[in-house]
Amino acid sequence: MTSHNSVHIKLAKHTYDVVIADGLLTQAAPLIVPFLPRRQTVVITDETVAQLHLPLLQKTLSDAGIASQVLILPAGEQTKNLANLERLLHFLADARIERTDAILALGGGVIGDMVGFAAAILRRGCQFIQIPTTLLAQVDSSVGGKTAINLPQGKNLVGAFHQPRLVLADTQMLTTLPRRELLAGYAEVAKYGLINDPAFFDWCEGNAPALIAGDKPAQIYAIEKSVRAKADIVAQDETETLGIRALLNLGHTFGHALEAETGYTDALLHGEGVAIGMVMAFQYSAAKSYCSPADAQRVQSHFSGLGMKTTRAEVTNASGSRLVEHMLQDKKRQSGTLPFLLARGIGKTYLDTSVDLTDIAAFLDGHSPQSSNIPE
Ligand code: NAD
Ligand code: GLY
Repeated sequence: MTSHNSVHIKLAKHTYDVVIADGLLTQAAPLIVPFLPRRQTVVITDETVAQLHLPLLQKTLSDAGIASQVLILPAGEQTKNLANLERLLHFLADARIERTDAILALGGGVIGDMVGFAAAILRRGCQFIQIPTTLLAQVDSSVGGKTAINLPQGKNLVGAFHQPRLVLADTQMLTTLPRRELLAGYAEVAKYGLINDPAFFDWCEGNAPALIAGDKPAQIYAIEKSVRAKADIVAQDETETLGIRALLNLGHTFGHALEAETGYTDALLHGEGVAIGMVMAFQYSAAKSYCSPADAQRVQSHFSGLGMKTTRAEVTNASGSRLVEHMLQDKKRQSGTLPFLLARGIGKTYLDTSVDLTDIAAFLDGHSPQSSNIPE
């Protein structure tokens, strides 16, 4: 195998590798085979990825003498629903998948989240391997073991923590990804800098255009850096009970409200919502004097400079109180309060449990929230 980068994820009860390389899929058999004791598997993918990348994976498998059956689901967020989960479970049961057979998830976060959840509940837990094909999935959703499907009432409402056995991130997959999807995934890359690594945000400011234009060393560096950052946080709080993993949700509460308002459609991609959400989190923090207006401006300028949307007005005219209604479905809500990820500066994100939702609604409507003293 030619050179590749590898991040070893070490959690309390699970360890696995995230392998990152350009052209990895053609050479992936030796990595996958140890997880296929019967030398057979199933591949779950979506219609778009099936056209573009399934033949390569099938060739890699068949060249290694591995038999595979394939289920191709529709592409897009709407696929992550109960009806498709049922279809997937029937397919896996018909294929007589055993607990020790690894199921292969070839696709973006939608396929990865759904397959991971099916693997978590089929026979009370089967193995699965993530082969993420979007930047978002390579830097975020394929790592850390959050799996879920959506309900009409909200996003990711039914799910489980279930870690993959292996993650294979091949940057060749990104060559077919539309620029809009790359940018949406890039928001999750920049997020790691904004959370706790100001030097990485500096790197992002200098290198994002090259990364988006397809520069492989920049992509591989950003993916490895992101995976390491996520692994570090997940290792401290795998099931998001200590307020540490919650940091990964920077921008997500605002972003999910916008996604809900736009019906989880192509009108707003997940990563696009996260980018706007991160801008809002910094702007709200600046309005409360928690961080400087210059930091908030720097975050907005970064995303808008790449051609991304950074304001609610570019997405919806919905009122602040309507968006707050959507936030009330958030899984992080506890005893009626909703913790918010706010910032004391670039790379200084923190969890604030004292945010007043009336204040958030006023802020979303363009009114200045009540200024507070800078918290300790
Ligand atoms: P996605 O899986 O819908 O992929 C986006 C689009 O790109 C789809 O139309 C897909 O068919 C297409 N596509 C995928 N790979 C391609 C390729 N190589 N070339 C061309 N087109 C390709 O969406 P996503 O952005 O990858 O993931 C979003 C999902 O991930 C959301 O459901 C979100 O909730 C979830 N998510 C989960 C976690 C987690 O920790 N589990 C984290 C972040 C996001
Ligand atoms: N994407 C957030 C998390 O994995 O916790």
